[in-house]
Amino acid sequence: MPVYILGINAYHGDAAAAILKDGKIVAAVEEERFNRVKHCAGFPVQSIRFCLEAAGITLDRVDHIGISRDPSAHLHKKVVFAANRAARQLAMSAGVGNSSNIKPLVSLIVEAGGGNGDNHAKEKRNGAGIFGQIADRLGNAAKIRDLKDELARVFSVPKTHIKAQVHDVEHHRAHLASSFYVSPFESAALLSIDGFGDFISTMWAVGEGNSVEVLGQVEYPHSVGIVYTATTQFLGFPHYGDEGKVMGLAPYGKPRFIQEFRSIIRTEERGQFRINLDYFRHHAEGVEMTWDHGSPVIGQVFSGAFVDTFGPPRSPNAPILDRDRDIAASLQLRLEEISFHVLNHLHEKTGLMDLGLAGGVAYNSVMNGKILLNTPFKRVFVQPAAGDSGTALGVCFHINCGILRAPRSERMLGAYTGPQFSDDEIRSELEQSGVTFERLPEGETTKRAAKDIAEGLVVGWFQGRMEFGPRALGNRSIVVDPRRSDMKEILNERIKKREPFRPFAPSILEERTGDYFEQTHPAPTMLMVYQIRPERRYEIPAVTHVDGSGRLQTVSREVNERYYELIAEFEKLSGVPVLLNTSFNENEPIVCTPRDAVDCFLHTEMDVLYIGNQRVAR
Ligand SMILES: [Fe+2]
Repeated sequence: MPVYILGINAYHGDAAAAILKDGKIVAAVEEERFNRVKHCAGFPVQSIRFCLEAAGITLDRVDHIGISRDPSAHLHKKVVFAANRAARQLAMSAGVGNSSNIKPLVSLIVEAGGGNGDNHAKEKRNGAGIFGQIADRLGNAAKIRDLKDELARVFSVPKTHIKAQVHDVEHHRAHLASSFYVSPFESAALLSIDGFGDFISTMWAVGEGNSVEVLGQVEYPHSVGIVYTATTQFLGFPHYGDEGKVMGLAPYGKPRFIQEFRSIIRTEERGQFRINLDYFRHHAEGVEMTWDHGSPVIGQVFSGAFVDTFGPPRSPNAPILDRDRDIAASLQLRLEEISFHVLNHLHEKTGLMDLGLAGGVAYNSVMNGKILLNTPFKRVFVQPAAGDSGTALGVCFHINCGILRAPRSERMLGAYTGPQFSDDEIRSELEQSGVTFERLPEGETTKRAAKDIAEGLVVGWFQGRMEFGPRALGNRSIVVDPRRSDMKEILNERIKKREPFRPFAPSILEERTGDYFEQTHPAPTMLMVYQIRPERRYEIPAVTHVDGSGRLQTVSREVNERYYELIAEFEKLSGVPVLLNTSFNENEPIVCTPRDAVDCFLHTEMDVLYIGNQRVAR
């Protein structure tokens, strides 16, 4: 009988589920793609349902279920922290003579807890921190949440129906597992780095065969992710996941505030770092975690010290000033310095040349792209769903390899683990939608699409299995000609409506990487930014950022044959083995189904849509 392992990321942003059959990935998917709520938290019921369907089983057949949270992890640290905070509140309340404000410790601990995006009646909570730190652990440990109870409830089955063994997997161990067990490395140095999870912000380890040994960690309230989030808010980008916008803004500025950021976050020996708590609210006053129709919203993290240092915060609709650009540049530089500080220590401890990387900070592709230039590491694997959704996959592999000691048998080359649709299903959907379409012979689709792209059309490209993680990697993409300098404006005006300073990304045939980029290490999940060779920048202006960089996706035939063919056909017409690839969405989660794709096509000014072997034109 095959062994099925179900992994879940729940009650965090980017809720997700993944399933293994005998150690092989059957499916991994984010809940936002189904319920159409960006970064949605809560319980990933539709993702779990999809995983079970993809495996062809029902819940009673699952042998192990894991969740990427462990209320008992680092418990003594959580209790000490909560007690200290209660004592501070007590002192403050006593100071103003109002003891009625004092909450009993136990209530503080319970209220510190994270939200459940499903539960709109309790949308607002007094979270002691963010990203599931003290919150989800202490709070939810008291409130719930027997996983089997929850599954029985959402699937309307008796609890006895679920026979699986349940595992709580510490958040960063799930990240680390996701960065190693699906990597190409037999042994590797591993780094998990994010805002917070299970009271930890950074954890490093060594992976060897079937084990991951933790070597060091940075604990709450110290976090480079939290510094990035706080500064992102200060710069007027309030939404969950806006950190990428600041990364895009940074090259427009000069890092003239680097000394300020070096005092905001300081390095210490043995890979450690500490933040200057004066600049932050999360550790002292707490930060509100609210839920806007299921999407997580983080309250203000920065304190008045930020204002004292940099002046008033930018409001979201205000013009972006030189000061804002320079703050972004300084922050980005400091993030890189901190990351390389940790990574160089990790290399020193392990002596290894291969690195596995995960955690929300691993979405900082600019930092990732400089790792090989600033550390001794020679190869880097960045888990495509490096953020919290990827912990669902990490949980599966932690159980499979770390607990069950099953042999490692999976290499994650791409990220194509989501739903797919047959041409019959697609045509039935197109007919229902009332759009006119043409059915192309197999082999014609990539040729016709390449011709459309070369003629300057904005092309929707919906093929095969949906990607896991935030990047569209040629299966749920919008693709255009990178040679046209006006393409960025065209895309923004007609579809994406993004801030004009944000770059668009190139996909390149893997073997041609060195012809266009100054580094050649493969980047199949679009999580590396490299410098484009100066002599090539004029050739592909639509994907060349202001500093001459590009966040590339290297495409090999082995990983995505159809997308490879599309780029190769475009090269035949244009001489350029590069396409501009942006995610197939307007301002919503990336499309999942043919219906989503047609809706997006109809709502935007996309010129043509290739969906399977069907060509939909206006
Ligand atoms: Fe995380």
